[in-house]
Amino acid sequence: MGGEGGVRSLIDRFYDLMDLEPAYAGIRSMHPPALEGSRDKLFWFLSGWLGGPPLYAEKIGHPMLRARHLPFPIGVAERDQWLKCMSQAMDEEGVDPALQRRLAEAFFGTADWMRNKGG
Ligand code: HEM
Repeated sequence: MGGEGGVRSLIDRFYDLMDLEPAYAGIRSMHPPALEGSRDKLFWFLSGWLGGPPLYAEKIGHPMLRARHLPFPIGVAERDQWLKCMSQAMDEEGVDPALQRRLAEAFFGTADWMRNKGG
């Protein structure tokens, strides 16, 4: 994954795309106007999730991701926007295709578990 720098640039690309691409406007509108905090939190979380230092747990605490997403209405459309945005970011960052497939599966499991409304 290219270590810390690789993860950081993937997340930067992910939120840049969320900001730029009309296809992701639905999930962009749930986020705060400035994305700096979101970038940091996702980086801290993925650091531990990918087997590196557990920065999120150190700085914030237990991730409790499903509970933390309950304020945002997440259905199939929002899940799929998140996953497409992440796939596009991985593609554009040149993540190795085999690694991309493994990560896409793992992201799908986590994103699907975040659904909290029908549709
Ligand atoms: C399923 C579609 C998803 C949507 C629509 C979504 C949306 C959001 C929104 C609106 C926030 C608040 C942003 C902020 O506080 O700056 C957030 C926070 C967060 N999301 Fe997601 N998210 C999704 C999936 C995921 C997935 C799959 C992961 C991890 C692999 C993830 C990890 C996080 C983390 C770590 C935070 C910060 C939590 C906190 O400390 O408050 N999200 N998400």
